[in-house]
Amino acid sequence: MTATPVSAEVSEPTAFTTRVAECRARIERVLERALSLPEAGSARLREAMRYSVLGAGKRLRPTLVYLTGEALGAPLTQLDAPAAAVELIHVYSLVHDDLPAMDDDDLRRGRPTCHRAYDEATAILVGDALQALAFAVLANEPLAATSAPLRLEMIRVLARATGTSGMAGGQAVDLDAVGRTLAVGAVEDMHRRKTGALIQASVLLGALAAGVAGGAELAGLERFGAEIGLAFQIQDDILDVEGDPALLGKSTGADAAHSKPTYPSTVGLESARVRARELRDSAIAALAPLGGRSTALVLLANVMVNRAS
Ligand code: IPE
Ligand code: IPE
Ligand code: MG
Ligand code: MG
Ligand code: MG
Repeated sequence: MTATPVSAEVSEPTAFTTRVAECRARIERVLERALSLPEAGSARLREAMRYSVLGAGKRLRPTLVYLTGEALGAPLTQLDAPAAAVELIHVYSLVHDDLPAMDDDDLRRGRPTCHRAYDEATAILVGDALQALAFAVLANEPLAATSAPLRLEMIRVLARATGTSGMAGGQAVDLDAVGRTLAVGAVEDMHRRKTGALIQASVLLGALAAGVAGGAELAGLERFGAEIGLAFQIQDDILDVEGDPALLGKSTGADAAHSKPTYPSTVGLESARVRARELRDSAIAALAPLGGRSTALVLLANVMVNRAS
């Protein structure tokens, strides 16, 4: 990490690209370990969990945990449990999001969705079990330098981001909004909950694992997570309109087909792009308290908004 300020539009230096690839390889190993489950109960359920979690996905949330924690001086071993926990919650949300009762999608991460590869009941149970596993990982993993109160705070932060005021609550608003027109503020609120909350929690967990539990750095990271989390869902909505399904690994056009109010359907594609960039800039500005340690997070914020997949 250099102390040179990085502009929002900077191209990705090779060192950053390598670092992101290392984070992805590392979380793959950690998730593989977490999913080496005891041979109790249903082998089909364990297999469906592994099918849903392993071998694909951008792993942006674990990468946020690693890069935030690293910026604040946490050793990587300290970040494995929170990185795995956020990805497990994320995959649980995807498996349920794809169910016929929700978005009814057949393709996820370039392969059949869990309920297509298995069946609906199994997909419901996969989500249930992944959620439980996420909190078990956070509670049980050896985190030598993480004090009990900090670990409790991490559990609290993840629970808040997952539950009624976060992901699950946002998904309920999403379902309720089908066929309706929402004011742009209501779309933002829905997006901040259903997607932004877990992205923000990823940043906060990285900070907590580094022992940063308050002060200007945590406040800046909290705002960074909120702004980039909303920008991320706006870009997801944009890609549903103009993305390449082969790159995305999921079908496009589904939001319009299901009459979902999205950012582009509410304000238009161009205004959605402008808003995503504005939020990215505001996210990056919020990293000021980290000074030169923010370089990797600035670059990741760009990836999250400029991505094509
Ligand atoms: C997709 O998330 C669902 C949203 C919350 C927008 P990602 O785009 O991070 O999906 P994966 O993890 O790479 O498959
Ligand atoms: C997903 O939003 C939000 C979740 C909590 C999973 P979307 O429904 O737009 O995500 P995709 O487009 O299916 O990945
Ligand atoms: Mg959805
Ligand atoms: Mg969906
Ligand atoms: Mg989408």
